[in-house]
Amino acid sequence: MEHRLTLDIIKVTESAAIAAARLMGMGDRKGADKTAVQAMRMALNDIPIHGRIVIGEGERDEAPMLYIGEEVGCGGDFNVDIAVDPLEGTNLVATGSPNALAVMAVAERNGLLHCPDTYMEKLVVRPSAKGVVDIRASVKDNLNAIAKAEDRDVDDLTVVILDRPRHEQLIRDVRAAGARIKLISDGDITPAIAAVVEGTGVHALMGIGGAPEGVLSAAAVKCLGGEIQARMRWRNDEEKERAKKMGMDLSEDKVYTTEELSPGEDIIFVATGVTKGDILEGVSFFGGGARTHSMVLTSTTKQIRFVDTIHVFERVEKIRLK
Ligand code: FBP
Repeated sequence: MEHRLTLDIIKVTESAAIAAARLMGMGDRKGADKTAVQAMRMALNDIPIHGRIVIGEGERDEAPMLYIGEEVGCGGDFNVDIAVDPLEGTNLVATGSPNALAVMAVAERNGLLHCPDTYMEKLVVRPSAKGVVDIRASVKDNLNAIAKAEDRDVDDLTVVILDRPRHEQLIRDVRAAGARIKLISDGDITPAIAAVVEGTGVHALMGIGGAPEGVLSAAAVKCLGGEIQARMRWRNDEEKERAKKMGMDLSEDKVYTTEELSPGEDIIFVATGVTKGDILEGVSFFGGGARTHSMVLTSTTKQIRFVDTIHVFERVEKIRLK
């Protein structure tokens, strides 16, 4: 799948990123999301797959496009499940802030968890701390375990947390344990990736964010050899009802492992930067075209590709490469 589909899949997130980036700083988060969804769907329907959206823009009755269960693609040999977030960080684009992405993960059928658009508590760590943390344990115990695995002190660790009132206690606990914190306004997929990679200055992601973002993060974390643990955090009975229909365990105590969130053996994760971020460049426009920067991760070959693409929309006299 990787060899035959990767380039097509990159075009999908590139299209969404270019569309959304046009609205950077316009204060229109919904408009940016809508245009990214439309562009992503159009591009998805051009690729040779029988695709089924398992993580998308919501349920069929509330999302006109890329809803959970929608069939996409133009046919072909590959029956795949797809998780999408055409615009991760709608507020980030609306305000021109860093780290907005267009994201997608593709796997064989049932290779990605089907779950409703709810919240999820997440703990993401590097490969070195795999197997030594437990989301049910105290923050202090987990930070001590990460520090030991990393052969450093707790005060040498940095944890990324979404800046939300629901995280007041978590923030207090991390501070009390002695670790440093990077509070973010939005967008927890980028820090989930950063938490798994050496040299980013991030050692863990903790806290409650979107469940769809959790499944997408799990696809990336699995490709990178790190670990994510998660617990569902339902916001209302309707979400629970939807989860029940999907056959999910409704207990908030159930711990989802990396394997349960992204069980696929053949996973491709692709993200294209919309605004310049910690890992990816944002979309830049020039007269008659645009330049995009994407990351492609695969579970089979364990390769990390960065793809720098120049898109020429109309005939231009000069293309600048540097
Ligand atoms: P949007 O792209 O839908 O705006 O979501 C961005 C995001 O920050 C996610 O990265 C994160 O998981 C979730 O929202 C957090 O939700 P909330 O803003 O409700 O706390």
